[in-house]
Amino acid sequence: MFSAAEANRSYFQDAYRTGIHGWEVEKPSPYAVACLRRISKIVPGGRLLDIGCGEGRHSFAARRLGFRVTAMDFEPLALTRARRFARLKKVAGVVFRRASVLRLPFPDSSFDVALDYGCLHHQRKSDWPAYKANLLRVLKPDGFYILTVFSPRFIMFRGSRRPWHVAQGAYRRRFLAGEITALFSRQFEIMDLAEDRENGGGFWHALMRRRPETR
Ligand SMILES: C[S@@+](CC[C@H](N)C(=O)[O-])C[C@H]1O[C@@H](n2cnc3c(N)ncnc32)[C@H](O)[C@@H]1O
Repeated sequence: MFSAAEANRSYFQDAYRTGIHGWEVEKPSPYAVACLRRISKIVPGGRLLDIGCGEGRHSFAARRLGFRVTAMDFEPLALTRARRFARLKKVAGVVFRRASVLRLPFPDSSFDVALDYGCLHHQRKSDWPAYKANLLRVLKPDGFYILTVFSPRFIMFRGSRRPWHVAQGAYRRRFLAGEITALFSRQFEIMDLAEDRENGGGFWHALMRRRPETR
């Protein structure tokens, strides 16, 4: 069985070496920003972890809303680009860490909010338990989780029965709504789960809040 991390590595290295890839570089997702605004009123100045931060667009949006942000990614070139964008955009105070989401180097209950735009869907299903265990360990008991993953409408999955897809070496997985609820609803209240249908669609956006005392 191939490791998704190994398969993905050269894809993300190339993406950040060239700056050419299929997701927005600077503009944050409106859904994520709306969630961040909402959460900033409940935990002003809270600690936020941006999982697979890439070039940092959501970290910067969160920082501007007053969160204390840790931006982490396993690809060093992503962090190099994110640091450069932080300087260009004059966003101060974001902490950058190189790490895998499957081995988060943070103390228990460190964060009020975890945000994952597009990282979970690059993990193999066999790695979901490790992903979730790490998320639950570092997120506070009543912490928030903002998630965006591929839906079956994403172009690579249209007309395919397979839930996964490999292109240019990168592993991707699409989620059914029921898979998201099955994966998270025991430990999280799913406050919102919506499919983004703009531009042909292809993403689920979710806002969740951790149920206290759940592992
Ligand atoms: C589709 S990109 C999204 C980047 C960023 N979240 C954004 O919205 O612009 C997915 C990111 O997840 C990172 N990533 C993938 N697998 C990872 C892992 N196991 N640990 C940490 N980061 C990972 C990649 O390097 C990449 O930056």
